[in-house]
Amino acid sequence: MGCDMDMRNNKSTAAIAAVLMIGAAALQGCSGQPSADQPSESRATGAPAKAGAYGVYVDSEGHIALPDDFLTDWAHLGSWAVAKDGGVEGIHNVYTPKEEVDYFRQNQEFRDGAMLVKEVRAARGAAHTTGDAHWGEDVQVWFLMVKDREGRFPDNPLWGDGWGWALYNGGDRATQVATDYKKDCLGCHIPAEKTDWTYTYAYPTLGPQVAQYAPKEEDAASMAAAAMTAMASASEGGAAGEGVYKRCAACHSLMPGQHGLGPSLAGVFGRKAGSAEGYAYSPAMTNSDVVWSEETIDAHLKDVKGFIPGNKMGALFPNGVPDADERDAVIAYLKEASQ
Ligand code: HEC
Ligand code: HEC
Repeated sequence: MGCDMDMRNNKSTAAIAAVLMIGAAALQGCSGQPSADQPSESRATGAPAKAGAYGVYVDSEGHIALPDDFLTDWAHLGSWAVAKDGGVEGIHNVYTPKEEVDYFRQNQEFRDGAMLVKEVRAARGAAHTTGDAHWGEDVQVWFLMVKDREGRFPDNPLWGDGWGWALYNGGDRATQVATDYKKDCLGCHIPAEKTDWTYTYAYPTLGPQVAQYAPKEEDAASMAAAAMTAMASASEGGAAGEGVYKRCAACHSLMPGQHGLGPSLAGVFGRKAGSAEGYAYSPAMTNSDVVWSEETIDAHLKDVKGFIPGNKMGALFPNGVPDADERDAVIAYLKEASQ
């Protein structure tokens, strides 16, 4: 998952994005529990907008289903290539139904009920006749937003600030996994608050005017400062290891069987990688023969993308824990807390 505001600065801003998310999640003591919601029938019915249950993909409780047909039937708004270590780590493609494009072009805003899907694919690259060209392969995650001008679901933690927010893991089109948009989404979208929380300047399909909102170099610098502050307050308080663990808690619960974006870490020591019951791991993690110990967790946190290449945590938390003392502290904490 990338947060690149500006391709000229993409390395630093990717780190910032991760930091912003962690800061926000840790400050709010997020538990990362999965939603018990199941997909509704509304996506199949194609029913027109109704009070309470509006749009085709939203049911009366505010559950947002993942559409099947956006690749073939919707408008492609634009793409992001997220750079990392001189290569491209992810390709993000953004889609909306065609009629939303017409409305946006006329009104310079999204219509009530408009849905946006961002499909995040792992990138591969190779020498091509055009140069070092990269393309998107397996889907890692889908992000969804649904415009809500009426505050329809005040009690649903996935709705607020004018939108419904949802997340699906690449392997599972049926299970919505975000729990609270304020913890799981909003922190990273703050830089786009002025443009209704969306990064519309990268979507030329919406018309030429959107480009005026593209960030300048100095915006990237002030984002960096804000992110550092968030990071500092996130690590304050509690024993050192517990402080570091707050970053993990955005995605990992310590309650047995309680999975969030990441699997529960209860009983993780001595467990084979990718074997907790009821969590949809990436094949990379399931097929690895790693057994979790102080050494292997250390290696994973040091090189989240490289230790088990292709695992999902590598895309979601790409920087891991670079500081060796912090790794020692969090592993010591986890050893106690995961029992
Ligand atoms: C790590 C930071 C981060 C987190 C966490 C995050 N986003 Fe985003 N999101 C971004 C950035 C940055 C973009 C645009 C650039 C990109 O995709 O690299 C974006 C783009 C999107 C888009 C495409 C439309 C747009 O706003 O430009 C959707 C839809 C979206 N996010 C939904 C969500 C939802 C829903 C959540 C929570 C479940 C979420 N995002 C969490 C950073 C984040
Ligand atoms: C942004 C989300 C996110 C954060 C933050 C995160 N992880 Fe993960 N983690 C994941 C995901 C997703 C997986 C599953 C990977 C897969 O299936 O490929 C995972 C898997 C793991 C595993 C393997 C578990 C198993 O059952 O095999 C360990 C160990 C782990 N994470 C430790 C940590 C620690 C420790 C931290 C904090 C320093 C952390 N993670 C932070 C998302 C995250």
